[in-house]
Amino acid sequence: MAYKLLDGKDLAGRMKTAMKQEVSELIAKGITPGLAVVIVGNDPASRTYVNNKRKDCEEVGIRSFEYALPEETTQKQLLELIDTLNEDKTVDGILVQLPLPKHLDEAKVLRRIDPKKDVDGFHPYNVGELMIGNPILPPCTPAGVMEILKDAGIEVAGKNCVVVGRSNIVGKPMAMLLLHAHGTVTVCHSKTRNLKDVCSQADILVAAIGKADFITAEYVKEGAVVIDVGINRNAEGKMTGDVDFKSVCEKTSAITPVPGGVGPMTRAMLLKNTIKACIMHKNGGVS
Ligand code: GUN
Repeated sequence: MAYKLLDGKDLAGRMKTAMKQEVSELIAKGITPGLAVVIVGNDPASRTYVNNKRKDCEEVGIRSFEYALPEETTQKQLLELIDTLNEDKTVDGILVQLPLPKHLDEAKVLRRIDPKKDVDGFHPYNVGELMIGNPILPPCTPAGVMEILKDAGIEVAGKNCVVVGRSNIVGKPMAMLLLHAHGTVTVCHSKTRNLKDVCSQADILVAAIGKADFITAEYVKEGAVVIDVGINRNAEGKMTGDVDFKSVCEKTSAITPVPGGVGPMTRAMLLKNTIKACIMHKNGGVS
């Protein structure tokens, strides 16, 4: 079967072009969106992500502020920085790169971020808004997946959507967004029985497992749409998703590649949330 390659890199590029225009119009009115990114410690993957975020901001004209804190930063110091950023009028979005070093309490840190500046959408306030169908600042990865589906004209309403993975960052918010789009949603995880059977019922299968090439052809229904959220490194150090692309692609009607699928869309959605937060602040609140 001929499948459609869902090119997230291309879509992210088109979105960035539009956002660059939007930002230049804001700047002409004296409004410059600003994103503060906080990284604690020396995790190399986190460092790469943070560098990419800075480059993305530069590309579209968003001001970026980076706070690279040493591994031994205390909880108190980190919370004080967040308090300062919450008060800073030049900062519209605050992102604390995860994972944090073990001695820091991630949940407490995320709760300290002003929900109006929570461009990751991880604060319980924004999680709650998402749950009740008002995704003010939705988490970037699942929001990026929804944009991919929309751009490709893939209807969600009435479809069997299976999400594999139940993390707070991807699986749970993904399920909510698909549900709000009127999908019939099943969330699977490591304790799910007969995972293959459940997955092979999916019209839209979202893999967010964190295991390289886990989803093989037996998990996929003929003609399904397959979205691969995984970012793993295989034995040769090459980036690979949660889906065994070679074995699966011919069975699908549409599939995202890794790299070049969901990853670039996550980055684009962070910019989108930052611009959205900025506009909300200038308009005097969350609507
Ligand atoms: N680490 C991995 N993914 C993410 C993300 O989406 N946001 C943040 N803040 N940290 C991450």
